[in-house]
Amino acid sequence: MDRKVRVGLIGSQFISTIHAEALKQSAAAEVVAVASPTRGNAKAFAQKHGIPHHLTDYHKLLEMNEIDLVVLGVPNNLHCQVTVDAAAAGKHIVLEKPMCLNLAEADRMIVACKKAKVKLMYAEELCFAPKYVRLKQLLDSGALGKPVLVKQSEKHDGPHASHFWDVNRAGGGVTMDMGCHAVEFFRWMLGRPAITSVYAQMGTAVHADKTQGDDNAILILEFANCATAVAEESWTKMGGMDDRAEVHGSKGVAYADLLHGNAIETYSAVGYDYAVEKAGSTVGWSFTIYEEIWNYGFVQEMAHFVDCVKHDKPPLVTGEDARVVLEVIFAAYESAGTGRKVYLPFKTDAAKPFDLWKNRS
Ligand SMILES: NC(=O)c1ccc[n+]([C@@H]2O[C@H](COP(=O)([O-])OP(=O)(O)OC[C@H]3O[C@@H](n4cnc5c(N)ncnc54)[C@H](O)[C@@H]3O)[C@@H](O)[C@H]2O)c1
Repeated sequence: MDRKVRVGLIGSQFISTIHAEALKQSAAAEVVAVASPTRGNAKAFAQKHGIPHHLTDYHKLLEMNEIDLVVLGVPNNLHCQVTVDAAAAGKHIVLEKPMCLNLAEADRMIVACKKAKVKLMYAEELCFAPKYVRLKQLLDSGALGKPVLVKQSEKHDGPHASHFWDVNRAGGGVTMDMGCHAVEFFRWMLGRPAITSVYAQMGTAVHADKTQGDDNAILILEFANCATAVAEESWTKMGGMDDRAEVHGSKGVAYADLLHGNAIETYSAVGYDYAVEKAGSTVGWSFTIYEEIWNYGFVQEMAHFVDCVKHDKPPLVTGEDARVVLEVIFAAYESAGTGRKVYLPFKTDAAKPFDLWKNRS
């Protein structure tokens, strides 16, 4: 393609704002339209980001011939239908995590994209976060020896929008929302060996008034290369977003703290405008992040996906990767629901991961 890749955004709130900001930094991309159903939202978003077209119905955006690529920023329960519609319209797709609500939906999405010959690209930004990319280079170079244990955790005090708290729309709680990051992080870091088993412990420790879903979780994964991985996920950690990883190998160890590690240690008696995602307060001690979406890999992720469309390259993270992650998430809810280690492959026709945990003893 010898012109810019023309992008349509579906959704206009939290993650779509990040997508718009990230795409502005890609010289090969041009955002031409945004669709969002709430009256006024798409228009305000278009004005703020200098996007020429705004629509309330995403089907109308998909009808626009000039759009090559759509980037989805809609609740989890809509991922499947919007993806299938976008594929039918011949658009390449960047899909936010988690893939969708269940494995049947995942298969439908993959088949629809294959049939339409469009790319299904899975937006796992941790695979593009510069500090984690350097961590993987260290591991791949042999600096740490053979990987033995990998840890990753993501924690904050709970999501910003109601659909995340509703298990019927989200599919689960924090494991579905943030455990999916850890699972793909582990696979990517280790070179994608098969995952052989999952053990998980989950609880609703603080937010039972808001959700039936889990707000704290620990997952232990075993890999075919004999490495073990541990994920800690929380919706109850106060004081702003925390994202960190460790790689322990036979010849070394490396610790990477994505946000605190790059932040300015700040004390303010009066508070200030913004410290980091989901920081409740900036009074007293806080950690002030800068270039947040760059540190998190969103800019690099969007540039990569745009490049894949422009030069017809295979993406680093695909719909098939997203399906593996979803299978592991289902296995994790099954494990937490039964109290047993669950072996993969794991087949289930459950409508959503939470269903495997809801009847826990
Ligand atoms: N990669 C990440 O770190 C990350 C961070 C946040 C959210 N996400 C994912 O992004 C997705 C959206 O989350 P969010 O935080 O932006 O939520 P949000 O509530 O901030 O925004 C959701 C958007 O979807 C729109 N929407 C709802 N129904 C729609 C429809 N029928 N057609 C078109 N648009 C519709 C809403 O109007 C809104 O603009 C979720 O799947 C979430 O898991 C990923």
